[in-house]
Amino acid sequence: MPVRCPLLFFLLLLAPAAVLRAADFKRDIAPIFKAKCHECHSEKAGKEKNGYVFDNLERLKSDIGPSCQIVPGKPEESPLMELLTAAAGDKRRMPPKGEGLTPKELKLMREWIREGALLEKGPSSKPGGLPPPKPAENKPGPSKPNAPATPPEKWTSTTGEVIEAGFVAMEGETVVLKMTNRSQPYRVPLSRLNEESRKRALERAKSPPVSRGGN
Ligand code: HEC
Repeated sequence: MPVRCPLLFFLLLLAPAAVLRAADFKRDIAPIFKAKCHECHSEKAGKEKNGYVFDNLERLKSDIGPSCQIVPGKPEESPLMELLTAAAGDKRRMPPKGEGLTPKELKLMREWIREGALLEKGPSSKPGGLPPPKPAENKPGPSKPNAPATPPEKWTSTTGEVIEAGFVAMEGETVVLKMTNRSQPYRVPLSRLNEESRKRALERAKSPPVSRGGN
């Protein structure tokens, strides 16, 4: 599969967790793709114009991120919105022929992207995703902000989001991680991580990182 843009995981950073979303992927967006796009962009139908499909979420995910077709949080910077709103007759318009998206569909698409272009429901409606790392919610616990961490590695949530962070400690059922670009520790409930990451966290907890002075 061609990689057009780096697979990124900042989606949740841009999406406030406890907000009711105006647009939901499954309820609002998938039906639009199905009605207006699958004819030419569907893995199931074997139509993959320019390599884009909208019925395989794993592949769709790789089109979501900074400098991708869909820029989470930024509909106005998302090339996809340009394609969808291009005038009929403009050869870049998607779909290239027939009815374009209705104003209502465009509004939903815009809302969905603005809210982070999540493929899963937000944490408010379905627990499973990674919590956005808000310092205010990350109350200082036993581990200090500059606690030693293992070298950064990838951690995956039950819903497939990935973050890169070093392991710091386990605090009860909470995994304390250290993201390279943040001074505050990042706390994730163990239950939010997928099985592999969960196992790894427990393993790391058994042999905690050795303090390396000044780290
Ligand atoms: C009738 C067939 C057809 C339909 C329906 C269609 N597309 Fe396309 N799509 C194409 C073709 C053909 C291309 C390649 C166009 C090109 O290279 O100029 C393309 C290219 C694209 C690209 C890549 C553009 C780029 O600049 O690389 C995207 C993204 C896209 N389509 C999204 C969509 C979306 C979203 C929909 C539904 C709203 C849709 N398409 C509906 C035929 C279709």
